[in-house]
Amino acid sequence: MKGVVLAGGLGSRLFPLTKITNKHLLPVYDQPMIYYPIQTLVNAGIDDVMIVTGGNSAGDFLKLLENGEDFGLKRLSYAYQRGEGGIAAALALVEDFADDEPICVVLGDNIIENNIRQAADDFRKQEKGAKILLKKVHDPQRFGVPELDGGKVLRIEEKPQNPKSDLAVIGIYFYDSTVFEVIKTLKPSGRGELEITDVNNHYINEGTMSWSELDGWWTDAGTFESLLYASKLVAETGANNLKDLTANQGK
Ligand code: G1P
Repeated sequence: MKGVVLAGGLGSRLFPLTKITNKHLLPVYDQPMIYYPIQTLVNAGIDDVMIVTGGNSAGDFLKLLENGEDFGLKRLSYAYQRGEGGIAAALALVEDFADDEPICVVLGDNIIENNIRQAADDFRKQEKGAKILLKKVHDPQRFGVPELDGGKVLRIEEKPQNPKSDLAVIGIYFYDSTVFEVIKTLKPSGRGELEITDVNNHYINEGTMSWSELDGWWTDAGTFESLLYASKLVAETGANNLKDLTANQGK
C-alpha cells in the first residue's frame, strides 16, 4: 500500500498566517504540521509516499522534507496541484504514482494521538473498496458526518446543518485502485470542489465501504481554534510521531 498526503489549498481560514506560506508548513507545537501526517503513514507500515501541494511555497516542502529518509521512507515523491479543485481533485493527481496499488490518503492538517496500524492491516486484507475512520466530536457540522444504521454506514453528508450522528469522518481514507475512475465521474459541489465525501458515498452505494472508530484523540488544524487546540494536545500528550520516534531512538 502506498501513502498520499494532501497538502495543497489556500489555507484561507488561517489568513494572514498563510499569506506567505503553505498551511502545512506552519508549526503545530514543535514540528511543522506536515510531519504528523507523514509519520501517521510511516507508523502504518507505509514507506512509499507522495505529497500533493501547490502555490508559491511548494518548493519549501522539498527543502524541509528532502528525500524523506529522516522519516524512514524508501521514496518520497511530490505532485504539484495547479489552482484549487478540492480534495478529490488533488487526489486525481496521484493516479500514476499509485500504479494500481491500494492507497492510504491523509489530509495534511489531520493529527492523531495514536496510530492507524490496525485499520491499515485490516484494509490490506479487504479485497476491494474503501475504508473510513470515524471519531466522536462535539461539532459534527464542521465535517463529513455518517448516518449509521447499526453497524452499517448508510451515507455521509458533508458539513450538514442537522447532523445524523455525532461522528466525524476523519481525514484519513483507504481506497482501492478504482478510486481514480470514481473521481472522473464527480461533479463540483456547491462550494465548487470535487468532494471526497462524494467519493466515499460512491463506495457506500457500491457496498464496499468499511469503517472503524479511531482510538485516541484526533483533530484537524485548519482554523485558528483547531490549530491552537492541536498544538495544545501535542504539547500535553504527544502525537503519534513523537511517541514512536522516541520509542525508535532507544532501539
Ligand atoms: C474535509 C472533508 C470532511 C472531513 C474533514 C476532516 O473537510 O471534506 O469530510 O470530515 O476534511 O478534516 P475540510 O477540512 O476540507 O473542510
